[in-house]
Amino acid sequence: MIVVETKQDLKNKIFSYQQNHQSIGFVPTMGFLHEGHVRLIEEARKANDIVVLSIFVNPLQFGPTEDFDAYPRDAERDEEIAKQAGVDVVFRPQIEEMYPDEPSYTVLVRNRVDVLCGKSRKGHFDGVATVLTKLFHLVQPNRAYFGMKDAQQVAVIHGLIEEFHFPIELVPVPTVREEDGLAKSSRNVYLSEEERKQATILFRSLKKAEAAILNGERKKQAVVDLISTMIEAESSGVIDYVEVLSYPQLKEIEVISGRIIIALAIKFTNARLIDNITIEV
Ligand code: PAJ
Repeated sequence: MIVVETKQDLKNKIFSYQQNHQSIGFVPTMGFLHEGHVRLIEEARKANDIVVLSIFVNPLQFGPTEDFDAYPRDAERDEEIAKQAGVDVVFRPQIEEMYPDEPSYTVLVRNRVDVLCGKSRKGHFDGVATVLTKLFHLVQPNRAYFGMKDAQQVAVIHGLIEEFHFPIELVPVPTVREEDGLAKSSRNVYLSEEERKQATILFRSLKKAEAAILNGERKKQAVVDLISTMIEAESSGVIDYVEVLSYPQLKEIEVISGRIIIALAIKFTNARLIDNITIEV
């Protein structure tokens, strides 16, 4: 495994792989790697000759009051995990390498962002779409891997790849969870011991909602109420949103049918956690 920090070094590597007709699988991350990221790497490993992992905490996707400075970072540990998981190239640029100047161009996402995390994190998906546009051009992957934990991100990238004609196959990967169901996240380290116990309510309430739908519940509001009541009763977290939408269009629905997403965001003292499930009804 090699670690490169400059665009030029990365481009040289990519050029040599293309000369050898080797396929490239790309896993973009912000580091502090956990089993969720490792699952993406494993999927990329299976289907491609070369696996490129990027580690870049992208300032453009953090709001002014969000945790950019405090976002957990551990370069040495990340390198070890990446090596074990079978990564060929780690691209770990400094901020100046990706944004030498104030960006003159950014990608504006107009669709699928007025719901879920897009509602409270204004400009977040513009930042994600902008950095991925740059990374996609640099890495030129055949396939790119994204976790369904961030289902809205997957939906937005789906649109980005289609509308900007990136010749890239998007591969969504199911959410990796702790034994008690909590979705793995770099931000779980911010939870207090008590909050960590309570945080299982996210997935438990989603499963309860899924069971209700499988038992015939079709009213969106009933599902939202069921989840909200459980969360308020069993945790100190504050609900940011609980939503049921069509997927991947992310359109409002009143009656549940077709492919849907049930998604929620809960604020604890120092961490805002998200989770979701998609169901075909
Ligand atoms: P980050 O939060 O580091 O996540 C990198 C990738 O890992 C994303 O595709 C995310 O969905 C996936 N992931 C995180 N937790 C997961 C879990 N428990 N199970 C499965 N996959 C999981 O998402 C980003 O970084 C950034 O927005 C990025 C796409 C890199 C753009 O800056």
